[in-house]
Amino acid sequence: MTAFYLSKPYDPPQAPQNLPLDRPWALLGGISPQQFMKTYWHKKPLLVRGAIPAFELAKQMGEPLGNAISPEVLFKISGDEVVESRLIKAKPWSFANGPFKKQSIPSLETPDWTLLLQGMEARHPAAAKVLSWFRFIPDARLDDLMISIAGPGGGVGPHFDSYDVFLIQMSGRRRWRISEQKDLTLNPNLPLKILQHFNAEQEWDLDPGDMLYLPPHVAHDGVALDAGCQTWSVGFRAQSYKEILQEGLWRLAESLEDIPELHKHFADPKQTATSAAEQLPEEMIRQVTQKLKGLKLDRVETFLPGIAAYLSEPKPQACFDGSESKLSHDEFVRQLRKRALVPQPQTRLLALGGVIYCNGENMTDGQSSAIKTAWRSLAAKRHFKGALGQAEPNNSLFEAYEAGWLIF
Ligand code: SIN
Ligand code: CO
Repeated sequence: MTAFYLSKPYDPPQAPQNLPLDRPWALLGGISPQQFMKTYWHKKPLLVRGAIPAFELAKQMGEPLGNAISPEVLFKISGDEVVESRLIKAKPWSFANGPFKKQSIPSLETPDWTLLLQGMEARHPAAAKVLSWFRFIPDARLDDLMISIAGPGGGVGPHFDSYDVFLIQMSGRRRWRISEQKDLTLNPNLPLKILQHFNAEQEWDLDPGDMLYLPPHVAHDGVALDAGCQTWSVGFRAQSYKEILQEGLWRLAESLEDIPELHKHFADPKQTATSAAEQLPEEMIRQVTQKLKGLKLDRVETFLPGIAAYLSEPKPQACFDGSESKLSHDEFVRQLRKRALVPQPQTRLLALGGVIYCNGENMTDGQSSAIKTAWRSLAAKRHFKGALGQAEPNNSLFEAYEAGWLIF
């Protein structure tokens, strides 16, 4: 019989509710989140050895930690059609989109392949917990947690990303080479976004528990050194100004629907006889000027609700299933006193002052103060438990529960 040793899986802790922003963090190499944001965020790379000290500690005690998520579980997840997954092979480069059957994924020892799984925070609690460590950065900037698992030599090739990323080594070793080169031309003959010229300036081998932070546009190439190498990337997003403004304006335009005054038709009893019939009437220009003033289009507050709603939209591939939400309204309110309501992992919540947006919708408008408080707790602390007051007509918490946006 073969003797085998089952190592204890790494169980990432949930970050505390109140993050100590001015204290040194191992995760950030002994600097505080405040210092990190000032010196590195969106500016320069940072390599952190032992960002997760548990790995080194366990190794010193002779009991190295195992995978937080096993390869089998990752392979199974890659077979789910709602998960965005990609299989990339090197030598020569090839690329396929999931879902994948177990047989189509090479064995861990096979060289030169990697499987990438997006949005893992919604698929596994360990990934959601790792994501919680990064809540010193606004939720509006967060994209998702991607996990890559690879055979030796596996990687996605030298490339650059347009976004900030924390690359956490979780299993096996990965060799990272980076370059702050100006030339970011892509090779036009490949099915992947791979740089035509990559001139590595720095190189490190990352062990489990090490982390590399990269701001946007730093060229990088990560190659797995061991079978089953896992890298967890916490990725951020940043829309173009054009997109933010367009989305804000579009929602503002939609909201005019709710202003009864604007439903009235243009009236021009003061129109005089004109000799320039082809011109847009002065009277119309005068009235539109007046209406625009009333809308306060020159004030940013007018646009912010639309922008907050837009940034709280879930990922396009997110799917919510309300069929599990079977409680009646009264039962829901009763349960809420005993159990915590939490956002479904694909739900996005954003606050604009005291107004809370969930999955693109304003949830606090016209709601009781108890419900508003509940939403504020959900957005800030990501949970709520408590009493709601008596009868709550159009309880938006209950509606979100029925839609599968909030779960117990
Ligand atoms: C990987 O985990 O292999 C790729 C991550 C990246 O380079 O963005
Ligand atoms: Co990258």
